Amino acid sequence: MAKTYGVGVIGVGGIANTHFPGWNESPYTELVALSDTVPETLERVGGAQGVTRLYEKAKDLINDPNVDIVDICTPNAFHTPLAVAALQAGKHVICEKPLAPTPADIRKMIKARDESGKLLMTAQHFRFQDRSRALKAEVDRGLLGEVYHARSWMLRRCLTPLRPGFYLKELSNGGPCIDIGVHILDLTLWMMGNPAPATVSGVTTNRLTKQPGAFSMWGGTIPAEHDVEEMAAAFVRFESGATLMLEVSWQLHHDTMGEDMQMWLYGDKAGVHWPSNVSVTAINETQQLTRTELQKAQGREPHAEECMVFADCVANGKPSPVPAEQSLQVIGILNALYQSAEKGKEVAVRL
Ligand SMILES: NC(=O)c1ccc[n+]([C@@H]2O[C@H](COP(=O)([O-])OP(=O)(O)OC[C@H]3O[C@@H](n4cnc5c(N)ncnc54)[C@H](O)[C@@H]3O)[C@@H](O)[C@H]2O)c1
Repeated sequence: MAKTYGVGVIGVGGIANTHFPGWNESPYTELVALSDTVPETLERVGGAQGVTRLYEKAKDLINDPNVDIVDICTPNAFHTPLAVAALQAGKHVICEKPLAPTPADIRKMIKARDESGKLLMTAQHFRFQDRSRALKAEVDRGLLGEVYHARSWMLRRCLTPLRPGFYLKELSNGGPCIDIGVHILDLTLWMMGNPAPATVSGVTTNRLTKQPGAFSMWGGTIPAEHDVEEMAAAFVRFESGATLMLEVSWQLHHDTMGEDMQMWLYGDKAGVHWPSNVSVTAINETQQLTRTELQKAQGREPHAEECMVFADCVANGKPSPVPAEQSLQVIGILNALYQSAEKGKEVAVRL
């Protein structure tokens, strides 16, 4: 079968490397162009991937007629202008998380998407993990009954990213909420069926970061300019009456050396834990407790998988597997968390 869709990747630093295998393996796509503002990076990655259409200016890649799908892997601040330009040029767009750091930016992307009639997807790779998909299938089949409460957290102990794009508010719009909170929050909302959020009560702090000598295991002392939160917690109410407790951190005296990322979903029939996929119930008729490990499918590496699924949707006229409206919910909740922390009271979520 001819590979009918040319893919151009903008920003070929770290995460882009996890997307290339998906574009290469998909029966529908071919990696045809790359863009990066750093010429050495562009040449090196172009050589490694065997791609010769190399552009230092992203707009040249966007306007290349060989490119049908634009894959945005730049720092967050460039997601909106690049996605809007690509959609306006008639290209389908997959964009790394967070889709954009503010609800206003995501609304601009949705408008451009609707005017173009093309697909826009957020690269939320945790949805494409084998165990996430196995669990989602069970939840959708009704395993839990009505999910009325969830708890989720993504906690790092001493792992603040030391690049300004992460720790300066003017570049990132936030700390671990925007960096890793989007992962666990997106996954939790998706499992819950993306209920409409109503209100958020949240707190943030950066008290450990501001202690003398505060450091990150990723490279030493945390710069004094760091001006985002190091930790946040929130209680979210949904219009359905369901609730969620969320915790995220880069710095916290929590017993983990890497990342402690977990979720509990509680329904009126059963509860389930991710990533163990252990489900628990109480059977009233026999007054017994049950504990079952749900089957975990064997899947592809999730970043590659998300690209292959997007290619399939583009080629076969299916809707976006991670629609921008769902990313708007995620960023809307995190934005409300920040407002609530500042005001010291519960606030409404405005999308
Ligand atoms: N899904 C995940 O697990 C995951 C993990 C890490 C990063 N990310 C996301 O991926 C994005 C990139 O992060 P990264 O860690 O790969 O960063 P990175 O700094 O390693 O790579 C970004 C690249 O973009 C290039 N770039 C910057 N501005 C550009 C522009 N205007 N045009 C073209 N190239 C440009 C830089 O030179 C760099 O090579 C961020 O949005 C981040 O949140 C996602």
